[in-house]
Amino acid sequence: MYDRSKTNNQKLLKWLDEAIALCKPSAVRWADGSEKEWKELCEGMVESGSMIRLNEEKRPNSYLVRSDPRDVARVEDQTFICSEEEVDAGPTNNWEDPAVMKARLNDLYDGCMSGRTMYVIPFSMGPIGSPISHVGVEISDSPYVVVNMRIMTRMGDAALAALGPDDEFVPCMHSVGKPLAEGEEDVPWPCNPDNILIIHFPAERLIMSYGSGYGGNALLGKKCFALRIASCMARDQGWMAEHMLVLGVENPRGERFYLGAAFPSACGKTNMAMLIPPAQMEGWKVWTVGDDIAWIKPDADGKPRAINPEAGFFGVAPGTSVKTNPNAMESLRANTLFTNVALTDDGDVWWEGMTDEPPAHLIDWKGRDWTPDSDEPSAHPNARFTAPASQCPAIDPAWEDPAGVPIEAFVFGGRRVADIPLVYQAKDWEHGVYVGATMGSATTAAASGEVGKLRRDPMSMLPFIGYNAGDYFSHWLEMGEKFAVPPAIFHVNWFRLDAGGNFLWPGFGQNMRVLRWIIERVRGEVGADESPFGSIPRKEDFDWRGLEFSDAQWDALMAVDGEQVRSQAAEPNDLFDRIGDRLPAQLEAQRKQLANE
Ligand code: GTP
Ligand code: SPV
Ligand code: MN
Repeated sequence: MYDRSKTNNQKLLKWLDEAIALCKPSAVRWADGSEKEWKELCEGMVESGSMIRLNEEKRPNSYLVRSDPRDVARVEDQTFICSEEEVDAGPTNNWEDPAVMKARLNDLYDGCMSGRTMYVIPFSMGPIGSPISHVGVEISDSPYVVVNMRIMTRMGDAALAALGPDDEFVPCMHSVGKPLAEGEEDVPWPCNPDNILIIHFPAERLIMSYGSGYGGNALLGKKCFALRIASCMARDQGWMAEHMLVLGVENPRGERFYLGAAFPSACGKTNMAMLIPPAQMEGWKVWTVGDDIAWIKPDADGKPRAINPEAGFFGVAPGTSVKTNPNAMESLRANTLFTNVALTDDGDVWWEGMTDEPPAHLIDWKGRDWTPDSDEPSAHPNARFTAPASQCPAIDPAWEDPAGVPIEAFVFGGRRVADIPLVYQAKDWEHGVYVGATMGSATTAAASGEVGKLRRDPMSMLPFIGYNAGDYFSHWLEMGEKFAVPPAIFHVNWFRLDAGGNFLWPGFGQNMRVLRWIIERVRGEVGADESPFGSIPRKEDFDWRGLEFSDAQWDALMAVDGEQVRSQAAEPNDLFDRIGDRLPAQLEAQRKQLANE
């Protein structure tokens, strides 16, 4: 039924045989990653009504897809870590007994691909052949997944060729869960929203996803593999898989300095990864390595080295503009897939925030006529673009270096409207791990559920830690000893509001001023004040060329209420409490110290 000569990896052949017998697709096709395949699949989806080809002049080789309105974001409450013991999934994950879950999945998957083609998608997370990279194989009944994976990963024949007969790979099984009966007409976005399950078996390094075709639910190389499963591999093998952008800052002397920054979903990683400094900060430049995920390993000298395991950006569209992120706009100028954005009358795309003036008429993400008088936004708040990283004008020359880039700092950040200053530096690694472990942020549209609610999101990994969060914190503490020089740790907050609800900090490109202070701190080139949080900049420690910012604004932005810091640390920490005896003692000691207990 399929070409078995494509691989001599017996584990892969066996898994495919079993999956085909279970899912009962009407055809099986290897994804080779070629241009020809891309065209064929996209044009096929255009013909079937799943995709819209955009205006070739305005947006060459690009397509728009509208999802089922019930399938628009990651579904955290249907995401499970099925470790043997419940305690190993820990308090931040849903858990089910692996055997029970397997039985449930086997029922769901039985015949789930009938009437459809099963695509076999070999892919590499990370440059093919890098010692930091890992191979996965996704099987999916969604051609949309195939074309997205071609942008987001190194996908197809080259990845398959890297998989030797005895090499390990991560099996990733995906179905939209909508079999087609004989003669039944397909819908534009098949899915099964009432039965979504995103399941991880860490012991087997196996992923099974059912019912959703959207983003992290379906592009299994991303959150399921590169974060949840990879975090387990990293714990066992002494490295880190983190929800971090990676960027390089170049100073006027031409020196380059790399850092990783962990912000929760839809909190500005893509923006910061592609930041363009204010013109007046002459000689400063930011280079993009990745915008979402970092794999970090100590090299032979104990230096932390990071790669971006992905090959594309699956970025939040709304709010992206030539003002907020010109490099992202340039990255998506062609060869890009758009999901749940609006369609303009001349066959291009639009979303809220792309231009100051909305077009007079659009077709919205639900396919309805839209005008500026319409009640709802034209694009879904979690509408996304899938664009090749190689198209980013600021892509770092070393972004595909198999050795990775050297990391000197980690930055944590979130949406904290009230209480956290623009930037501070943790006192040391242990305090920095405490800062990451107690991070909080207002929730966003990237996951289904209530938006704008403050929740703890440790290291921005709350939905992505593939094991017990207490063990994850222990692993962070241990990594501090594995690195010859552990990265310095900072916390930033672009989102502090004044009493009138306005942002106190202009953000975006202006964040370069914060980046400069961070680098110069690490290099010992600039001063700071002490605060209960750690070191904070004095106003004179910042580069202010090109920005008027009053002392009063600065004071409001940087205000630290020592008593509030103390009392917040003294409040019961529900996450720490739920972790219980797996919480490393160092973190409780940090909390006590801050709380003056
Ligand atoms: P995922 O892809 O979901 O992991 O998220 P991300 O962190 O890459 O999200 P993204 O960069 O797309 O976040 C976009 C959101 O952050 C938008 O709402 C932006 O307006 C907001 N944002 C980014 N940078 C800034 C900033 O400097 N200031 C303010 N106020 N908002 C910002
Ligand atoms: C996130 O939600 O953090 C994302 C988007 O990066 S998704 O791939 O859908 O998880
Ligand atoms: Mn993300």
